[in-house]
Amino acid sequence: MSERLQKVMAHDGIASRRKSEEMILEGRVKVNGVLCKELGMKVNNSDQIEVDGVPISKEEPVHYLLYKPRRVISSVKDEKKRKTVVDLLEDVEERVYPVGRLDYNTSGILLMTNDGDFDYQITHPKFKITKTYVAKVEGVPTPSEIKQIQKGIIIEGSKIVPENVKIISHNDKKNAIVRLTIHEGKNHIVKKIFETINHPVEKLKREKIGNLGLGNMQPGDFRRLKKFEIDDLLEITNKK
Ligand code: URA
Repeated sequence: MSERLQKVMAHDGIASRRKSEEMILEGRVKVNGVLCKELGMKVNNSDQIEVDGVPISKEEPVHYLLYKPRRVISSVKDEKKRKTVVDLLEDVEERVYPVGRLDYNTSGILLMTNDGDFDYQITHPKFKITKTYVAKVEGVPTPSEIKQIQKGIIIEGSKIVPENVKIISHNDKKNAIVRLTIHEGKNHIVKKIFETINHPVEKLKREKIGNLGLGNMQPGDFRRLKKFEIDDLLEITNKK
């Protein structure tokens, strides 16, 4: 699978994607010994990339599962100097980055890796990996509002049809806890779904990616994925 040169450079921890583009335009990057000064080139795993004459070293691929707490940003660096998910993976020496993202105030399961192929397979919409969320929403959706979500809701021009939506509890008329399983990974998708039926999300947690859950982990805990867990996730994508 090939990917844009600047994306691979960013994945390999050279610099951000934008800075990597600048480095390419400045003529600092070679691919298989040939100077590449234009954006848009695609490379794959077997291509040798050099920056300033130094080959990019490829790290062993690693895969982690993090229980992201609230008030942590899903990126490698933050301009506002907020804590990032990478800061939480103390003592991890590989240049890992989050696979997809969770909002600053969303908690739950987040995968972290330095493996660009894995990242692609998990995040690309065509592979349709399911994600299960539990949302605390304002008010209690009526059965017909839940049906409206089940039938599919148009968000930014595409129809989102969840695999499952269910109210699991409610507190008088104030709030409901709703579990929802979807394939899509668009930004703020769950919040947008509930906004459409006028029940804004007050709190959100991602419980599962595919069949992978948090077990008895606590916010801030992380662990290496086991080989069978990686294989199980990739098997879902290989069937698509
Ligand atoms: N949907 C959202 O609205 N927020 C998240 O963090 C993830 C999915």
